[in-house]
Amino acid sequence: MKIERLKIQNFRVFKDVQIEDIPALALFVGANGTGKSTLFDVFGFLRDSLQDNVHVAVTRRGGFKEVRSRGASGPITFEVKFREDQGPLVTYLLKVEEQDGRAVVAQEVLRYRRGQSGKPWHFLDFNYGEGTAVTNEVDYGTPNAEMQREPQKLDSPEILAIKGLGQFERFRVVSSFRRLIERWHLSDFHIQAARPSQEAGYAEHLSPEGDNLPLVTQYLFARHPKLFAEILDKMKQRVPGVTKVEATETVDGRLVLRFQDGSFRDPFIARYVSDGTIKMFAYLILLHDPSPHPLLCIEEPENQLYPTLLGELVEEFRDYARRGGQVMASTHSPDLLNAAEVGEVYWLEKRDGYTTVVRAKEDAQVCALVEAGDSLGALWKQGLLGGAGL
Ligand SMILES: Nc1ncnc2c1ncn2[C@@H]1O[C@H](COP(=O)(O)OP(=O)(O)OP(=O)(O)O)[C@@H](O)[C@H]1O
Ligand SMILES: [Mg+2]
Repeated sequence: MKIERLKIQNFRVFKDVQIEDIPALALFVGANGTGKSTLFDVFGFLRDSLQDNVHVAVTRRGGFKEVRSRGASGPITFEVKFREDQGPLVTYLLKVEEQDGRAVVAQEVLRYRRGQSGKPWHFLDFNYGEGTAVTNEVDYGTPNAEMQREPQKLDSPEILAIKGLGQFERFRVVSSFRRLIERWHLSDFHIQAARPSQEAGYAEHLSPEGDNLPLVTQYLFARHPKLFAEILDKMKQRVPGVTKVEATETVDGRLVLRFQDGSFRDPFIARYVSDGTIKMFAYLILLHDPSPHPLLCIEEPENQLYPTLLGELVEEFRDYARRGGQVMASTHSPDLLNAAEVGEVYWLEKRDGYTTVVRAKEDAQVCALVEAGDSLGALWKQGLLGGAGL
């Protein structure tokens, strides 16, 4: 499943923004404060809304007044257009307003066209906790099949219908959208968090800050030895000297990562290896996840890494996306941009307090220069990608 378009209104710095034709790997550049992290937080907001409710999502972000774009009066709106393999384009629309001091769902719609033509069909359509929903799932491909729709009421206007209506657990399109939101992952790796030892335990997926790196290492080593060997091979190629990495348990039951340098007998524990070594290892663990996140957002992956490694990292993002996990990353790195295709790059530009998002592919000058052999990193440095260069 892939997100193809995203429309955001009145959410912080995004007063009215549309991002079209989103590819499997999308890279976002932009000056500080243009909204790269806010863009990723759209999915954080949707996840909080789904797991708890929209009031919790808004409150966690400082309240309605903070979250709604300054000077705006309309609802906070997200429109996500996504497609399952071979499926039709499905639209999920969510509008959040404030009522008596609480954030509520003013509108929630899930719609798609059945068959090649015809009007989009509303699978569910809710306002303030009441609406109609389809009660039997009918295949996309059978446009004439009978759908049953009936009025429904949710327990509260703060919860999402896709969560609150039990019948949707069985509906394929709704459950794959829920899965996308629930399994969305933000990687904002913090070297210091990944260094210390950690309580023994169990983890299959790297946490956002990477603090469970030893546990995931142990899991991959024990359960996916071939994959782990591949990770080690890449480490050996990319970080001079590293021959082996292992997670070992200390006498007091803690787990420590040890990095073996071929030149010395005793390994170094994670606390004493270089920042770049830890980061490269963490990214290899993240990107070789045997069950990729449907959507992975990565904050500035370039930090601490040697510039020539960034091309391979971009290739790994693409591999991850090919395995079914769409990747969005924010970056300030010309070397990383150099490894990107023009169709993968967007820039964020802030004017008069609000940001717009531009696809590099849609800029005739940028396309002509790339065609003539200029690199995206150099164009960005010259300020041609949104004037946010170095
Ligand atoms: N309600 C709001 N209305 C308008 N702008 C807002 C609102 N809330 C926050 N902002 C602005 O949104 C921006 C937040 O930017 P964000 O942290 O997403 O930027 P970024 O591109 O990730 O920056 P960096 O490169 O520094 O990480 C800030 O400039 C902030 O002033
Ligand atoms: Mg940021």
